[in-house]
Amino acid sequence: MAAPSALTLAAFCGSTRRGSLNRRLLHATVERCLNAGASVDVIDLGEVDLPLFNQDLEKERGIPADVAPIQARLDVVDGVLIASPEYNGGYTPLFKNTLDWISRIDHLTFYPRYVGLMTATPGGKGGARGLAQMEQLFHNVFVHVHEPSFGLGNAHEELDGGRPVAGLTEWTEEYLEAAVEFAKAPPEKPR
Ligand SMILES: Cc1cc2nc3c(=O)[nH]c(=O)nc-3n(C[C@H](O)[C@H](O)[C@H](O)COP(=O)(O)O)c2cc1C
Repeated sequence: MAAPSALTLAAFCGSTRRGSLNRRLLHATVERCLNAGASVDVIDLGEVDLPLFNQDLEKERGIPADVAPIQARLDVVDGVLIASPEYNGGYTPLFKNTLDWISRIDHLTFYPRYVGLMTATPGGKGGARGLAQMEQLFHNVFVHVHEPSFGLGNAHEELDGGRPVAGLTEWTEEYLEAAVEFAKAPPEKPR
């Protein structure tokens, strides 16, 4: 694998639930990235309190102060790792709301970054529908999403089993390898 020592990543979880399976999956992935030599800025969405996006609110009070620091942290990395639950076959409100607020500062924030998507679910299907919706959202704004995304079914058993999560090390290595290649010539944001 190409050495990812210069690779810079950000990572966040689309669930702020205590004991979130997705946060645990994210941290297991981040650990692998750090061991491989990448640097990772973990953004904890539980530390920010973004109101549900509303254009009147934006007009009257402006963009909440917590949005700019998140956008700035995302704006300087080569890649972004996101682990987010599937809710009713789609993405979570936290995931979408965060992206909507960020887009009000720069709707191309993710454009030059290599995105890796993951979902952990206690169900057996690995959150495939939620992943497909997240992939589609990024494709809509021409963001490069690593293929395949990583869906972890029976996540409570996988993460509690005391064994490494099946396939996660390989997936992370493939993501890092592709992210290193992507970072050599990231697309420039169109004006
Ligand atoms: C509103 C809601 C909808 C859900 N819909 C799905 C679903 O469509 N598919 C699925 O596999 N799990 C679904 N779940 C279960 C979540 O996968 C489970 O609660 C998971 O632990 C949430 O992720 P977290 O542990 O990171 O918070 C749903 C949970 C909630 C609260």
